[in-house]
Amino acid sequence: MKIIVTGGCGFIGSHLIKELLKEKKNKIINLDAKTYCSMPESLHDIKKNRNYSFVKINLNNSKKLDNIIYNFRPNIIFHLAAESHVDNSIKKPDSFINSNVLGTYNILNSCQKNIKYLKKFKFIHISTDEVYGSLKNKKIKSFTEESKFFPNSPYSASKASSDLIVRAWNKTYNLPVIITNCVNNFGEWQFPEKLIPVVIYSCLKNKKIPVYGLGKNIREWIYVKDHVNILIQLSKKGKIGATYNIGSGYEINNIQLIKKICKFFDKNYSKKSSYNNLISFVKDRPGHDFRYSLNSNKINKLLNLSKNNNFEYYFEKTIKWYIQNLDWMEKKIQINK
Ligand SMILES: NC(=O)c1ccc[n+]([C@@H]2O[C@H](COP(=O)([O-])OP(=O)(O)OC[C@H]3O[C@@H](n4cnc5c(N)ncnc54)[C@H](O)[C@@H]3O)[C@@H](O)[C@H]2O)c1
Repeated sequence: MKIIVTGGCGFIGSHLIKELLKEKKNKIINLDAKTYCSMPESLHDIKKNRNYSFVKINLNNSKKLDNIIYNFRPNIIFHLAAESHVDNSIKKPDSFINSNVLGTYNILNSCQKNIKYLKKFKFIHISTDEVYGSLKNKKIKSFTEESKFFPNSPYSASKASSDLIVRAWNKTYNLPVIITNCVNNFGEWQFPEKLIPVVIYSCLKNKKIPVYGLGKNIREWIYVKDHVNILIQLSKKGKIGATYNIGSGYEINNIQLIKKICKFFDKNYSKKSSYNNLISFVKDRPGHDFRYSLNSNKINKLLNLSKNNNFEYYFEKTIKWYIQNLDWMEKKIQINK
Protein backbone atom coordinates (compact mmCIF):
# COMPACT_ATOMS: atom_id res chain seq x y z
CA MET A 1 0.00 0.00 0.00
CA LYS A 2 1.16 3.53 -0.76
CA ILE A 3 0.10 5.70 2.15
CA ILE A 4 0.28 9.41 2.93
CA VAL A 5 0.02 10.49 6.56
CA THR A 6 -0.48 14.23 7.04
CA GLY A 7 0.63 15.59 10.40
CA GLY A 8 2.93 12.59 10.85
CA CYS A 9 5.33 14.57 13.06
CA GLY A 10 2.56 15.10 15.59
CA PHE A 11 1.47 13.01 18.56
CA ILE A 12 -1.03 10.62 16.93
CA GLY A 13 0.47 10.76 13.42
CA SER A 14 3.91 9.61 14.61
CA HIS A 15 2.40 6.59 16.38
CA LEU A 16 0.36 5.82 13.28
CA ILE A 17 3.41 5.87 11.00
CA LYS A 18 5.38 3.53 13.29
CA GLU A 19 2.48 1.10 13.37
CA LEU A 20 1.94 1.25 9.59
CA LEU A 21 5.62 0.51 8.96
CA LYS A 22 5.28 -2.83 10.76
CA GLU A 23 3.56 -3.97 7.57
CA LYS A 24 6.54 -4.47 5.23
CA LYS A 25 4.54 -3.79 2.06
CA ASN A 26 3.55 -0.28 3.12
CA LYS A 27 5.34 2.74 1.67
CA ILE A 28 4.70 5.90 3.65
CA ILE A 29 5.16 9.58 2.98
CA ASN A 30 4.77 11.88 5.95
CA LEU A 31 3.58 15.39 5.02
CA ASP A 32 4.04 17.85 7.85
CA ALA A 33 4.71 21.58 8.16
CA LYS A 34 6.82 20.98 11.30
CA THR A 35 4.95 23.59 13.34
CA TYR A 36 5.97 24.42 16.93
CA CYS A 37 4.42 21.21 18.32
CA SER A 38 5.84 18.73 15.82
CA MET A 39 8.14 16.02 17.11
CA PRO A 40 10.34 14.64 14.35
CA GLU A 41 12.47 13.10 17.13
CA SER A 42 9.63 10.65 17.85
CA LEU A 43 10.34 9.17 14.40
CA HIS A 44 14.09 8.87 14.94
CA ASP A 45 14.03 5.05 14.94
CA ILE A 46 12.40 4.79 11.54
CA LYS A 47 14.19 7.68 9.82
CA LYS A 48 16.33 5.33 7.77
CA ASN A 49 13.56 2.87 6.94
CA ARG A 50 13.47 2.60 3.12
CA ASN A 51 9.69 2.51 3.18
CA TYR A 52 9.45 5.89 4.89
CA SER A 53 10.04 9.41 3.65
CA PHE A 54 9.29 12.87 4.95
CA VAL A 55 8.31 16.01 3.07
CA LYS A 56 8.13 19.32 4.87
CA ILE A 57 5.04 21.01 3.48
CA ASN A 58 2.28 23.28 4.63
CA LEU A 59 -1.01 21.90 3.31
CA ASN A 60 -1.84 25.38 2.13
CA ASN A 61 0.82 24.99 -0.58
CA SER A 62 -1.55 23.43 -3.08
CA LYS A 63 0.88 23.33 -6.01
CA LYS A 64 3.41 21.29 -4.07
CA LEU A 65 0.60 19.11 -2.72
CA ASP A 66 -0.74 18.42 -6.23
CA ASN A 67 2.73 17.33 -7.37
CA ILE A 68 3.20 14.97 -4.44
CA ILE A 69 -0.19 13.32 -4.92
CA TYR A 70 0.26 13.06 -8.69
CA ASN A 71 3.75 11.54 -8.40
CA PHE A 72 3.18 9.23 -5.42
CA ARG A 73 -0.41 8.16 -6.24
CA PRO A 74 -1.38 7.01 -2.74
CA ASN A 75 -3.94 4.29 -2.04
CA ILE A 76 -4.71 5.76 1.37
CA ILE A 77 -4.39 9.20 2.93
CA PHE A 78 -4.71 9.45 6.71
CA HIS A 79 -5.36 13.15 7.27
CA LEU A 80 -4.24 14.25 10.75
CA ALA A 81 -2.46 17.56 10.11
CA ALA A 82 -4.17 20.21 12.18
CA GLU A 83 -3.71 22.83 14.83
CA SER A 84 -4.90 20.92 17.89
CA HIS A 85 -4.62 22.98 21.09
CA VAL A 86 -7.94 24.52 22.21
CA ASP A 87 -6.29 27.26 24.32
CA ASN A 88 -4.29 28.45 21.31
CA SER A 89 -7.44 28.51 19.20
CA ILE A 90 -9.02 30.95 21.65
CA LYS A 91 -6.01 33.28 21.61
CA LYS A 92 -5.17 32.99 17.92
CA PRO A 93 -7.83 31.32 15.76
CA ASP A 94 -6.34 32.28 12.34
CA SER A 95 -3.98 29.33 12.07
CA PHE A 96 -6.84 26.96 12.98
CA ILE A 97 -8.90 28.20 10.06
CA ASN A 98 -5.87 28.11 7.74
CA SER A 99 -4.67 24.63 8.64
CA ASN A 100 -7.81 22.80 9.71
CA VAL A 101 -10.32 24.24 7.26
CA LEU A 102 -8.30 25.47 4.26
CA GLY A 103 -5.61 22.79 4.63
CA THR A 104 -8.30 20.09 4.52
CA TYR A 105 -9.97 21.75 1.53
CA ASN A 106 -6.63 21.85 -0.32
CA ILE A 107 -5.80 18.20 0.17
CA LEU A 108 -9.31 17.11 -0.84
CA ASN A 109 -9.02 19.25 -3.94
CA SER A 110 -5.64 17.72 -4.83
CA CYS A 111 -7.11 14.23 -4.45
CA GLN A 112 -10.09 15.14 -6.58
CA LYS A 113 -7.89 16.60 -9.34
CA ASN A 114 -5.80 13.43 -9.42
CA ILE A 115 -8.55 10.91 -8.76
CA LYS A 116 -8.12 9.07 -12.07
CA TYR A 117 -4.56 8.15 -11.05
CA LEU A 118 -5.47 6.96 -7.54
CA LYS A 119 -6.19 3.22 -7.39
CA LYS A 120 -8.45 1.76 -4.67
CA PHE A 121 -8.21 5.12 -3.00
CA LYS A 122 -9.49 6.06 0.49
CA PHE A 123 -9.24 9.36 2.36
CA ILE A 124 -9.45 8.81 6.12
CA HIS A 125 -10.21 12.02 7.98
CA ILE A 126 -9.25 12.14 11.66
CA SER A 127 -11.40 14.37 13.79
CA THR A 128 -12.54 14.90 17.34
CA ASP A 129 -15.47 14.29 19.70
CA GLU A 130 -15.42 18.05 20.38
CA VAL A 131 -17.43 18.72 17.20
CA TYR A 132 -20.60 17.54 18.99
CA GLY A 133 -20.29 20.17 21.71
CA SER A 134 -20.96 19.60 25.37
CA LEU A 135 -23.14 17.17 27.35
CA LYS A 136 -24.73 18.94 30.32
CA ASN A 137 -24.33 16.17 32.87
CA LYS A 138 -23.25 12.60 33.50
CA LYS A 139 -26.69 11.13 32.90
CA ILE A 140 -27.22 12.33 29.33
CA LYS A 141 -26.60 9.66 26.70
CA SER A 142 -23.31 9.73 24.79
CA PHE A 143 -23.08 11.27 21.31
CA THR A 144 -23.75 8.97 18.38
CA GLU A 145 -22.75 9.51 14.76
CA GLU A 146 -26.23 10.97 14.23
CA SER A 147 -25.83 13.67 16.90
CA LYS A 148 -25.84 17.26 15.68
CA PHE A 149 -22.68 19.33 15.57
CA PHE A 150 -22.56 22.06 18.25
CA PRO A 151 -18.88 23.09 18.39
CA ASN A 152 -18.09 25.68 21.06
CA SER A 153 -14.41 26.57 20.62
CA PRO A 154 -12.61 27.88 17.53
CA TYR A 155 -10.72 24.55 17.50
CA SER A 156 -13.85 22.39 17.50
CA ALA A 157 -15.58 24.71 15.01
CA SER A 158 -12.62 24.41 12.64
CA LYS A 159 -12.65 20.61 12.97
CA ALA A 160 -16.44 20.44 12.50
CA SER A 161 -16.03 22.58 9.37
CA SER A 162 -13.39 20.21 8.04
CA ASP A 163 -15.63 17.18 8.75
CA LEU A 164 -18.46 18.78 6.76
CA ILE A 165 -16.17 19.68 3.87
CA VAL A 166 -14.86 16.10 3.74
CA ARG A 167 -18.45 14.81 3.77
CA ALA A 168 -19.42 17.17 0.93
CA TRP A 169 -16.49 15.97 -1.23
CA ASN A 170 -17.88 12.45 -0.88
CA LYS A 171 -21.51 13.37 -1.55
CA THR A 172 -20.80 15.81 -4.39
CA TYR A 173 -17.69 14.43 -6.10
CA ASN A 174 -17.81 10.80 -4.95
CA LEU A 175 -14.41 11.09 -3.30
CA PRO A 176 -14.04 7.89 -1.23
CA VAL A 177 -13.79 9.23 2.31
CA ILE A 178 -14.24 7.89 5.83
CA ILE A 179 -14.62 10.31 8.76
CA THR A 180 -13.61 9.46 12.32
CA ASN A 181 -14.32 11.36 15.55
CA CYS A 182 -12.19 10.26 18.45
CA VAL A 183 -12.08 11.02 22.18
CA ASN A 184 -9.03 12.42 24.02
CA ASN A 185 -5.83 10.49 23.35
CA PHE A 186 -3.08 9.91 25.89
CA GLY A 187 0.31 8.26 25.65
CA GLU A 188 3.98 8.80 24.88
CA TRP A 189 5.15 11.81 22.81
CA GLN A 190 2.27 14.18 23.46
CA PHE A 191 3.38 17.80 23.28
CA PRO A 192 3.73 19.11 26.86
CA GLU A 193 1.04 21.75 26.52
CA LYS A 194 -1.70 19.12 26.94
CA LEU A 195 -3.20 18.18 30.32
CA ILE A 196 -1.47 14.90 31.20
CA PRO A 197 2.14 15.93 30.37
CA VAL A 198 1.56 19.36 31.97
CA VAL A 199 0.52 17.72 35.26
CA ILE A 200 3.42 15.26 35.22
CA TYR A 201 5.86 18.09 34.49
CA SER A 202 4.44 20.17 37.35
CA CYS A 203 4.84 17.25 39.77
CA LEU A 204 8.42 16.66 38.65
CA LYS A 205 9.32 20.34 39.02
CA ASN A 206 7.24 20.90 42.16
CA LYS A 207 5.29 23.61 40.38
CA LYS A 208 1.61 24.57 40.67
CA ILE A 209 -0.76 22.34 38.69
CA PRO A 210 -3.17 24.69 36.91
CA VAL A 211 -6.76 23.41 36.84
CA TYR A 212 -9.53 25.20 34.94
CA GLY A 213 -12.63 26.09 37.01
CA LEU A 214 -13.41 23.37 39.52
CA GLY A 215 -11.89 20.61 37.42
CA LYS A 216 -15.23 18.83 37.13
CA ASN A 217 -15.20 18.65 33.33
CA ILE A 218 -15.46 15.08 32.11
CA ARG A 219 -13.48 13.60 29.23
CA GLU A 220 -13.28 10.13 27.69
CA TRP A 221 -9.73 8.84 27.19
CA ILE A 222 -8.19 6.35 24.77
CA TYR A 223 -4.60 5.11 24.63
CA VAL A 224 -3.01 6.52 21.46
CA LYS A 225 -1.84 3.11 20.18
CA ASP A 226 -5.38 1.73 20.51
CA HIS A 227 -6.59 4.68 18.42
CA VAL A 228 -4.05 4.16 15.62
CA ASN A 229 -4.72 0.42 15.48
CA ILE A 230 -8.43 1.14 15.10
CA LEU A 231 -7.66 3.62 12.29
CA ILE A 232 -5.61 1.00 10.44
CA GLN A 233 -8.35 -1.62 10.76
CA LEU A 234 -10.94 0.93 9.69
CA SER A 235 -8.94 1.76 6.56
CA LYS A 236 -9.46 -1.89 5.55
CA LYS A 237 -13.03 -2.48 6.68
CA GLY A 238 -14.73 0.92 6.96
CA LYS A 239 -17.63 1.81 4.70
CA ILE A 240 -16.96 4.61 2.23
CA GLY A 241 -18.96 7.75 3.06
CA ALA A 242 -19.50 6.69 6.68
CA THR A 243 -18.60 8.41 9.94
CA TYR A 244 -17.33 6.43 12.94
CA ASN A 245 -17.02 7.50 16.56
CA ILE A 246 -13.92 6.10 18.29
CA GLY A 247 -14.02 5.89 22.08
CA SER A 248 -12.89 3.74 24.96
CA GLY A 249 -15.80 3.96 27.39
CA TYR A 250 -13.37 5.31 30.03
CA GLU A 251 -14.68 8.63 31.37
CA ILE A 252 -13.12 10.62 34.18
CA ASN A 253 -13.26 14.24 35.31
CA ASN A 254 -10.14 16.39 35.15
CA ILE A 255 -9.60 16.67 38.88
CA GLN A 256 -9.86 12.91 39.39
CA LEU A 257 -7.39 12.38 36.55
CA ILE A 258 -4.96 14.90 38.06
CA LYS A 259 -5.30 13.29 41.49
CA LYS A 260 -4.43 9.92 39.95
CA ILE A 261 -1.14 11.39 38.74
CA CYS A 262 -0.54 12.97 42.16
CA LYS A 263 -1.21 9.59 43.79
CA PHE A 264 1.39 7.96 41.54
CA PHE A 265 3.94 10.58 42.62
CA ASP A 266 2.96 10.29 46.31
CA LYS A 267 3.57 6.56 46.08
CA ASN A 268 6.79 6.58 44.08
CA TYR A 269 8.42 9.95 44.79
CA SER A 270 7.04 10.80 48.22
CA LYS A 271 7.87 14.16 49.77
CA LYS A 272 6.74 15.93 52.96
CA SER A 273 3.41 17.13 51.59
CA SER A 274 1.15 15.40 49.09
CA TYR A 275 1.43 16.37 45.41
CA ASN A 276 -2.31 17.20 45.64
CA ASN A 277 -1.21 20.41 47.37
CA LEU A 278 0.25 21.61 44.07
CA ILE A 279 -3.25 21.77 42.56
CA SER A 280 -4.20 25.37 41.86
CA PHE A 281 -7.61 26.29 40.48
CA VAL A 282 -7.50 28.99 37.79
CA LYS A 283 -10.17 30.98 35.95
CA ASP A 284 -12.18 28.68 33.71
CA ARG A 285 -11.55 28.54 29.96
CA PRO A 286 -14.22 30.50 28.01
CA GLY A 287 -16.76 28.16 26.42
CA HIS A 288 -15.31 25.22 28.36
CA ASP A 289 -17.34 22.12 27.46
CA PHE A 290 -18.59 20.17 30.47
CA ARG A 291 -18.60 16.61 29.18
CA TYR A 292 -17.60 14.70 26.05
CA SER A 293 -18.65 11.11 25.68
CA LEU A 294 -19.01 8.95 22.58
CA ASN A 295 -21.21 6.01 21.76
CA SER A 296 -18.79 3.81 19.78
CA ASN A 297 -21.13 0.88 19.14
CA LYS A 298 -20.91 1.29 15.38
CA ILE A 299 -17.14 0.83 15.16
CA ASN A 300 -17.04 -1.75 17.94
CA LYS A 301 -19.49 -3.87 15.98
CA LEU A 302 -17.69 -3.39 12.65
CA LEU A 303 -14.25 -4.28 14.01
CA ASN A 304 -15.46 -6.69 16.65
CA LEU A 305 -13.83 -4.66 19.41
CA SER A 306 -14.55 -5.60 22.99
CA LYS A 307 -14.36 -3.13 25.85
CA ASN A 308 -10.78 -3.23 27.11
CA ASN A 309 -9.97 -2.24 30.64
CA ASN A 310 -6.43 -1.17 29.92
CA PHE A 311 -6.62 2.46 31.08
CA GLU A 312 -4.79 2.00 34.41
CA TYR A 313 -1.95 0.01 32.83
CA TYR A 314 -1.26 2.44 29.97
CA PHE A 315 -1.81 5.49 32.16
CA GLU A 316 0.95 4.39 34.52
CA LYS A 317 3.18 3.44 31.58
CA THR A 318 2.60 6.95 30.16
CA ILE A 319 3.51 8.67 33.44
CA LYS A 320 6.73 6.65 33.66
CA TRP A 321 7.62 7.53 30.05
CA TYR A 322 7.36 11.29 30.72
CA ILE A 323 9.43 10.94 33.87
CA GLN A 324 12.16 9.22 31.85
CA ASN A 325 11.92 11.91 29.17
CA LEU A 326 11.99 15.01 31.35
CA ASP A 327 14.84 16.56 29.31
CA TRP A 328 12.77 16.26 26.16
CA MET A 329 9.77 17.87 27.88
CA GLU A 330 11.94 20.77 29.10
CA LYS A 331 13.26 21.41 25.57
CA LYS A 332 9.74 21.42 24.13
CA ILE A 333 8.47 23.76 26.85
CA GLN A 334 11.36 26.17 26.12
CA ILE A 335 10.51 26.17 22.40
CA ASN A 336 6.90 26.97 23.21
CA LYS A 337 7.70 29.97 25.46
N1 LIG B 1 -4.87 14.47 20.54
C1 LIG B 1 -6.14 14.12 20.72
O1 LIG B 1 -6.55 13.80 21.84
C2 LIG B 1 -7.09 14.06 19.55
C3 LIG B 1 -8.35 13.50 19.72
C4 LIG B 1 -9.21 13.41 18.63
C5 LIG B 1 -8.82 13.88 17.38
N2 LIG B 1 -7.59 14.45 17.23
C6 LIG B 1 -7.20 14.92 15.88
O2 LIG B 1 -6.12 14.12 15.47
C7 LIG B 1 -5.22 14.88 14.66
C8 LIG B 1 -3.82 14.77 15.23
O3 LIG B 1 -3.82 15.26 16.57
P1 LIG B 1 -2.47 15.34 17.41
O4 LIG B 1 -2.84 15.41 18.83
O5 LIG B 1 -1.50 14.32 16.92
O6 LIG B 1 -1.96 16.79 16.96
P2 LIG B 1 -0.53 17.45 17.10
O7 LIG B 1 -0.78 18.88 17.37
O8 LIG B 1 0.33 16.68 18.03
O9 LIG B 1 0.10 17.27 15.63
C9 LIG B 1 -0.40 17.94 14.51
C10 LIG B 1 0.67 17.91 13.42
O10 LIG B 1 0.12 18.56 12.27
C11 LIG B 1 1.12 19.40 11.70
N3 LIG B 1 0.43 20.51 11.01
C12 LIG B 1 -0.35 21.48 11.57
N4 LIG B 1 -0.78 22.32 10.61
C13 LIG B 1 -0.26 21.89 9.42
C14 LIG B 1 -0.35 22.34 8.08
N5 LIG B 1 -1.05 23.43 7.74
N6 LIG B 1 0.29 21.64 7.12
C15 LIG B 1 1.00 20.53 7.44
N7 LIG B 1 1.14 20.07 8.70
C16 LIG B 1 0.51 20.73 9.68
C17 LIG B 1 1.96 19.89 12.88
O11 LIG B 1 3.25 20.27 12.47
C18 LIG B 1 1.96 18.65 13.79
O12 LIG B 1 3.09 17.85 13.53
C19 LIG B 1 -5.77 16.31 14.63
O13 LIG B 1 -6.48 16.47 13.44
C20 LIG B 1 -6.72 16.37 15.84
O14 LIG B 1 -7.78 17.26 15.59
C21 LIG B 1 -6.72 14.55 18.28
